[in-house]
Amino acid sequence: MAMSHLLLLALLLASACTSSSASGNTLTQSGNLTGIRTLASPGDAFRLGLFAASNRSRWFLGIWFTVSPDTVVWVANRDSPLTSPSGVVEVSIGGALVLRDGASTVWSSSDYSNSSAAAGAVAAELRDTGNLVLADAAGTVLWQSFEHPTNTFLPEMRVGRSLATGAEWSLSSWRAADDPSPGEFRYVMATPRGGAPELHVWSGGRKVYRTGPWNGVRFSGIPEMTTFEDMFEFRFTAAAGEVSYMFRNRDGSPMSRVLLNESGVMQRMVWDKASGTWSNFWSGPRDQCDGYGRCGAFGVCNVVDALVCGCITGFVPRSAAEWYMRNTSGGCARRTPLRCGGSGGGDDGFYVLRGVKLPDTERTAEDASATLQECARRCLANCSCTAYAAADIRGGGSGCIQWFGDLVDTRFVDSGQDLYVRLAKSELAVADAPKNTRKFVAVITLVVTGFALLLLSLAFVIWRKVRRSERVTMLDGAVELMSGECPTYPMGIIRTATNGFCADNVIGRGGFGVVYKGQLPDGQHVAVKKLSAENTAQALNEFMNEVVLIANLQHRNLVRLLGCCVHCSERMLVYEYMSNKSLDFFIFAERRRALLSWKTRLDIILGIARGVLYLHQDSRLNIIHRDLKAANVLLDGDMVAKISDFGIARLFSTSADRQETITGRIIGTYGYMAPEYAMDGTMSFMQDVYSFGVLLLEIVSGRRNQRSFNLIAHAWGLWEGGRSRDLTDPAIRGGCTGGELGQAATCVQVALLCVQDCPSRRPPMADVIPMLLQQTAPGRPQRPVVCSNPAAAAAAALAVLAEITGGGNELTITSLEGR
Ligand SMILES: *[C@@H]1O[C@H](CO)[C@@H](O)[C@H](O)[C@H]1NC(C)=O
Ligand SMILES: *[C@@H]1O[C@H](CO)[C@@H](O)[C@H](O)[C@H]1NC(C)=O
Ligand SMILES: *[C@@H]1O[C@H](CO)[C@@H](O)[C@H](O)[C@H]1NC(C)=O
Ligand SMILES: *[C@@H]1O[C@H](CO)[C@@H](O)[C@H](O)[C@H]1NC(C)=O
Ligand SMILES: *[C@@H]1O[C@H](CO)[C@@H](O)[C@H](O)[C@H]1NC(C)=O
Ligand SMILES: *[C@@H]1O[C@H](CO)[C@@H](O)[C@H](O)[C@H]1NC(C)=O
Repeated sequence: MAMSHLLLLALLLASACTSSSASGNTLTQSGNLTGIRTLASPGDAFRLGLFAASNRSRWFLGIWFTVSPDTVVWVANRDSPLTSPSGVVEVSIGGALVLRDGASTVWSSSDYSNSSAAAGAVAAELRDTGNLVLADAAGTVLWQSFEHPTNTFLPEMRVGRSLATGAEWSLSSWRAADDPSPGEFRYVMATPRGGAPELHVWSGGRKVYRTGPWNGVRFSGIPEMTTFEDMFEFRFTAAAGEVSYMFRNRDGSPMSRVLLNESGVMQRMVWDKASGTWSNFWSGPRDQCDGYGRCGAFGVCNVVDALVCGCITGFVPRSAAEWYMRNTSGGCARRTPLRCGGSGGGDDGFYVLRGVKLPDTERTAEDASATLQECARRCLANCSCTAYAAADIRGGGSGCIQWFGDLVDTRFVDSGQDLYVRLAKSELAVADAPKNTRKFVAVITLVVTGFALLLLSLAFVIWRKVRRSERVTMLDGAVELMSGECPTYPMGIIRTATNGFCADNVIGRGGFGVVYKGQLPDGQHVAVKKLSAENTAQALNEFMNEVVLIANLQHRNLVRLLGCCVHCSERMLVYEYMSNKSLDFFIFAERRRALLSWKTRLDIILGIARGVLYLHQDSRLNIIHRDLKAANVLLDGDMVAKISDFGIARLFSTSADRQETITGRIIGTYGYMAPEYAMDGTMSFMQDVYSFGVLLLEIVSGRRNQRSFNLIAHAWGLWEGGRSRDLTDPAIRGGCTGGELGQAATCVQVALLCVQDCPSRRPPMADVIPMLLQQTAPGRPQRPVVCSNPAAAAAAALAVLAEITGGGNELTITSLEGR
């Protein structure tokens, strides 16, 4: 609101208050309202009068809250301002409310209604709801301001349309804070023929926001409405003659409003008496997923996903290249065409997309009386039906909305609804499998490995029991496994070693707990990882995963597990202590990174490569680490690199047909995540190769791949210009020999191969080592997509990521269908 003109208005009001109230709350055909006089509602909640905008240069007839005169809720002459407060408001002989400026009529209610139908004297009354009503002596309402809203939606007011008369009750924003003329945005009830109505915000000819259809309780896309239920009563009417929506304050007061502001945002505000201000309760669109059609046809928007947009199960991006460039407006296409064969569409079925705001209802058919089963049957029977959902979520869901054609503007919301998406039967088998397999595979992997190991270890335990008659606590599966897998340490020893888990001994916080430094009675330094107190299933899973995996791995470049300790419900792992902490502690630290000579760096690089190669193929288990990063590479006293943190690693079958799998949860760290994995959870050994490539660039350059700096694009630019050597960390570059700079350049080229967009173009780990050693020549990398237009594309992509992930570097993303 423009404070200046409204302050002025307030002053005028104050100076005129004695005379203004004289007019009461009605204006008869013999009365008039001039200059600074106002009409007050009976309880004086609202005032009607002239107010100024734009430095008193333009005057309007409007209604405002008496306690908040700068909150104008309705304006008569939006398009035709007066140039001075010289206007006269009166009820004409013909029975219309008019605003005159001298002899000319500036505004008249009869432009909007037919007042000649009036019987007897006509009067205008300002009610305590803020409604200005023009009625005849018989009480017939000839015209009312509530049927001609401007930018504000008040309690008791309707937004919608009369199907009988074609009248539309919609909001339109002001052009600017001090300009009430109609602006760019409109808030309109969409009433598709036969389909489900919903409210839209339009910007000119473009739909920018949808509330989603009414679901019996609230709008599908605004779950927050449920939380306001104690304050407001919402009513949606969809009868033969009218489709409308209204709300009222439960306390009966008129002191709340919904404003369509000049930026096209709906703001629900409530008057806070104590502070004398409006408090904002809710506004929409809330986030980028509320932007209409963000993810295109058959896409689904998820604000907590790194990529925001995904495709509904059974659909794939229409253009993978555009999608990868974060241009998701092209949407998704069906992977397997619908058969739509046979009677009743027996070849198709439905995938349940849970927890969503229902898609655009423009092409829908709604039947409130059908059951959900009937709805499914009808949808299958009509080849153009692509989805259905319950029209009313109460009582387990009833009624039927069918969608025809593209599903647009679907997003995940809190307590969202179920959308039944039609898919070919063959897709359903696939769609269902991962849902079960996800947990299943993880559990089975653990259980099967666990069981096998358990058998082995049981034998071992018995053997050891006999030998050492050592008491083994058997609490549960985890403990049995642990005690079998690794030597157990008594709790007392661990407690003493870590000074009673003293805070001073904390050296890190891992995926599932805290890591303490400790010293065993024999003088050996150890790192003790303690499972966090809240033994969540996730934490326990990761803990178990680590025990199972690492206890079976032995390699110079993997951190070594010395033993376990189980005490009551507490679980601990004891590792060899790494006196030089982790790699990121060195390479990203201004002073310390100069300590890492090129020779040391190359040793570290080769160490990591060997460690990963061991995980991938030399150990009998075949493991994808999934979270390779500088922080997970530890350095011992001799600066030997040791890979750690197997919390989210996966055992992997090596048979060729199982090269890829889809994981349920996408877990990893920003900057190291392979695009195909971030995008749809495709897991393969190449995921680690990608992370290794990023790590390689970081070690060479001493710079972090991050939102504000795309190291890959930077390296590509240098490589392409034949200046790979220039990527070498300036902290050591001066001291490098020509041969060493050549090695660094080779590393850059290998790294660029490792971060190729297409996983099949990345070299397997076994090929990487000879390349690093300059025994085989690395191939030519292709321009990674992030580099095509580094300035724009990468920045945009990274901005999207940054926005979602907030400050932290850690990403934990639930897959789209995972809810
Ligand atoms: C307004 O009404 C008063 C009497 O009620 C009358 O004297 C005055 O002339 C009117 N003003 C105009 C501009 O019609
Ligand atoms: C309003 O008046 C001030 C000073 O009198 C001037 O700076 C400003 O540009 C004016 N604004 C408009 C919209 O006329
Ligand atoms: C207004 O109403 C009168 C009487 O009901 C009718 O004769 C006249 O045609 C109407 N005018 C318009 C413009 O609808
Ligand atoms: C519209 O409302 C949004 C959300 O409350 C706010 O961020 C924005 O500044 C408002 N726009 C204007 C022009 O007041
Ligand atoms: C995004 O893709 C659409 C087609 O899918 C295309 O028309 C549009 O130009 C693209 N936008 C950008 C910014 O590349
Ligand atoms: C399928 O639905 C569309 C849209 O409602 C309708 O036009 C068409 O007649 C229906 N087809 C059949 C076979 O019912």
